[in-house]
Amino acid sequence: MTGFTGKVAVVTGAARGIGAAVARALAADGAAVGLVDIASEGLERTADAIAGQGGRAAVVRADVTSEPEVAAAFEHLAADLGGVDMLASFAGVVGYAPAPDCDEREWDRIMGVNAKGPFLCVKHAIPHIRRRGGGAVVLTSSIMAFATEQTAAVYSASKAAVAAMTGAMALDHAGEGIRINCIVPGVIRTELLDDAAALFDTDDPKALVESWGLRHPIARIIEPDEVAQVVRFLLSDAASAVTGSCYRVDGGLLSRLG
Ligand SMILES: NC(=O)c1ccc[n+]([C@@H]2O[C@H](COP(=O)([O-])OP(=O)(O)OC[C@H]3O[C@@H](n4cnc5c(N)ncnc54)[C@H](O)[C@@H]3O)[C@@H](O)[C@H]2O)c1
Repeated sequence: MTGFTGKVAVVTGAARGIGAAVARALAADGAAVGLVDIASEGLERTADAIAGQGGRAAVVRADVTSEPEVAAAFEHLAADLGGVDMLASFAGVVGYAPAPDCDEREWDRIMGVNAKGPFLCVKHAIPHIRRRGGGAVVLTSSIMAFATEQTAAVYSASKAAVAAMTGAMALDHAGEGIRINCIVPGVIRTELLDDAAALFDTDDPKALVESWGLRHPIARIIEPDEVAQVVRFLLSDAASAVTGSCYRVDGGLLSRLG
């Protein structure tokens, strides 16, 4: 596939997990990919993988909660890769606690990365995408925005914020050919889930992660590459009439939960 030849995509959270899988998929489709994350080693791993498959990648270590770092990352990547046509935002963190056990810094940490981060990235991506005459953005919400669980107040709030800002931003930019959608992942096999399982009182975190996957009506965990294929579609011209949507990649889970 070469559907993105001549296009530039910036991918945040690209050091591992879904972001790394999306970056590899977009590069395989011909895009030059700007990789953004706070994890330098992981960034280099993703860049090496893309180079190994014959693609082009540039790396910027940046914290998505810092506006100066986000602004500088987009400036640098646009200069290095020749512009920005697409943004795919995956930087994210988890944390679980009932409100009385959750201090203010934890609220700020989760909301900062998961809600302020994508907002700042869109803010600084749009002027570059505008210069190219249009483009597309995919943000990352979660099933937890729509069907939550005990101890997930802050994480759920952060992902509901993404779903809400997706609609508003889609309205702001529909008239200039910039489509903005978010994905709503279910249980995806990444290290984030290992981190989440470690927060629970269990002797077997791997089994706990697999048990979360079995809740999907498709009765298995979802692979990052399966999410990447949906992101690839939403960023492509095949989705030219799709904007403001929250696109579920949840193996049917929200249909079951209502
Ligand atoms: N894995 C799942 O089951 C699942 C389900 C629903 C939603 N999501 C969401 O998908 C996105 C990707 O998740 P994942 O499973 O690949 O997670 P992951 O933990 O494997 O990857 C997240 C990446 O974000 C980076 N990151 C964290 N804070 C950052 C910051 N301040 N600035 C820049 N980068 C930062 C991390 O270094 C890491 O590389 C997240 O937003 C997550 O909330 C994941």
